[in-house]
Amino acid sequence: MSEIERAVAALRRGGLVAFPTETVYGLGADASDPGALHHLYAVKRRPLDHPVIVHVGARADLGDYALAVPELAGRLAAAFWPGPLTLVLRRRPDRIAPAATGGRATVGLRVPAHPLALALLDAFDGAIAAPSANRFGKVSPTTADHVRADLGSDVDVVLDGGPCRVGVESTIVDLTGAEPAVLRVGGVPAERLEAVVGRPLEHRTAGEVAAPGTLASHYAPRARVEVVARGDVEASIAAHRAAGHRVALLALGAPVVDGTLVLESPRDVEEYARVLYARLRQADEEGVDVVVAVPPPDGGLGRAVADRLRRAAAG
Ligand code: TXA
Ligand code: MG
Repeated sequence: MSEIERAVAALRRGGLVAFPTETVYGLGADASDPGALHHLYAVKRRPLDHPVIVHVGARADLGDYALAVPELAGRLAAAFWPGPLTLVLRRRPDRIAPAATGGRATVGLRVPAHPLALALLDAFDGAIAAPSANRFGKVSPTTADHVRADLGSDVDVVLDGGPCRVGVESTIVDLTGAEPAVLRVGGVPAERLEAVVGRPLEHRTAGEVAAPGTLASHYAPRARVEVVARGDVEASIAAHRAAGHRVALLALGAPVVDGTLVLESPRDVEEYARVLYARLRQADEEGVDVVVAVPPPDGGLGRAVADRLRRAAAG
């Protein structure tokens, strides 16, 4: 039996399959099977009212899973799928179990851009509900080893597709209101979305109302994360060292600061996104107390990286 066949068999019996996407690894369950979804929430230790993202295959018709699909949904899907964009639409109750969406009338849908994920969706021939494959509130996994370290034997099959190419989660756009709104910044930069939409987009990324998973304290490692401006790095590190803390520095092209662990520096914003979660995990492995992090500039994936650093800092 191939790995994909084993994974499909596990999904059909209500089991859990971790699989790579271009953003982060997902922990998948059959989106039409309430029992499998309850198991998924239990393993994630995720509150039952937090909706998960439902992944569909490249050839999926939005109308198969959503009702009253607006014209803009088709345009965004054509522009960015497969890819790191989640569209929140009205859920078709016969195809997506309410348990997948915290009982909401809406559903977040996306087609992931990873050959293994697409092969799995194709072979399964149905929708797969998949949050990131970590315990609730922790740093998302970007390698199969991260998944195994986090979830161990709680996951039936782990498909290993190597390190994730994008490294931060999908951008979420809500299309169920009068105006489209960004609920989470992520792998598709706002400026690329706005080029397709044709106007600036409202961002509703603060607070808990719209996207319950976007709590301030998400994506947190064990180490404390402190977000500082480039010019404040030396002073911040000196203060933490004076307090007896083990300090690591995460920044674009990070300077070497005496007595500080410099986490291997990303050279550009895309690399910063790709390595961010792995570096936070590395800090924990090395027994670091405080990660001093300088966010990248705002353009492209910079906004998503800064957002995740801020949430890690609140954790
Ligand atoms: O890149 C990603 O999106 C990854 C990979 C695995 O696809 N998935 C992911 O899922 O990040 P998760 O469960 O960790 O995050 C789901 C986010 C939460 O912020 C949740 O509130 C939001 O999506 N969400 C899902 N369905 C929603 C809905 N119907 N309405 C509003 N927000 C929704
Ligand atoms: Mg997550």
